[in-house]
Amino acid sequence: MSGAAPATPLDSYREIWRRKAVLRALYDDYYLRIIKLLKPGRTLELGAGSGHLRTYSANSVLTDIQPAPWLDAAADAQALPFRDACFDNIVLLDVLHHVENPTSFFAEAARVLKPGGRIVMLEPAITPLSGLFYRYLHPEPVNMSQDPFAEVAANPKRDPYDANQAIPTLLFRHRRAEFDQHFPNFHLALVRNLSLFAYPLSGGFRRWSLVPAFVVRPLLLIEDVLLILLGRFMAFRLLVMLERR
Ligand SMILES: C[S@@+](CC[C@H](N)C(=O)[O-])C[C@H]1O[C@@H](n2cnc3c(N)ncnc32)[C@H](O)[C@@H]1O
Repeated sequence: MSGAAPATPLDSYREIWRRKAVLRALYDDYYLRIIKLLKPGRTLELGAGSGHLRTYSANSVLTDIQPAPWLDAAADAQALPFRDACFDNIVLLDVLHHVENPTSFFAEAARVLKPGGRIVMLEPAITPLSGLFYRYLHPEPVNMSQDPFAEVAANPKRDPYDANQAIPTLLFRHRRAEFDQHFPNFHLALVRNLSLFAYPLSGGFRRWSLVPAFVVRPLLLIEDVLLILLGRFMAFRLLVMLERR
């Protein structure tokens, strides 16, 4: 009696990626924006999931807390299995808000990055409109009252998809001044609003989409203009870049 191993969550996400052209069109835009912010050199991706950064940035090490055959290593963002000062960049796409102790991540990032190295991340933004969507139409919670600097005792039963979508907005918008005090090793060089309609309409990694792939590119061009006026009220994502001092 034998059979294929049961699909892991990462297998399922990879399968959705393969089938869903609208998702690939959207993430093509995300990855291109991310790689524009990278320094030349070696990049570590954390929480790489279905694992596509290398298509855009060849010199990348792909990792996730969940192992998968297409990834280079299993790695917890809070305890990285890499030596000091060995990376020029760290990339996270929708990962920081899943990390139990963001403070431990920033300590580890400061350790493995070379001086001048960068963290580039794309994360949920909680704005008046996106907050409604994320609270009522998205499975991950939004808890604006969590202290993002507090160290919590590690929960051995934590699921890799447990999350607080508010963490990036709290760290990089609402409590930005405290961020500088807590993490003097990092200079918060860029926090930009991104994503209006295309992302929620695409359904992300869910199986449905309300838009076909061919409208993603024009929609994103229109969004770029609208974001200037509407970003702080409506943006769904934050693009963030930090530099290791
Ligand atoms: C929302 S998924 C994003 C996956 C991928 N970056 C993407 O955008 O398709 C979050 C990923 O973060 C990973 N993750 C959660 N906690 C982590 C941690 N402490 N360290 C590294 N990865 C973690 C999960 O296993 C999951 O693959």
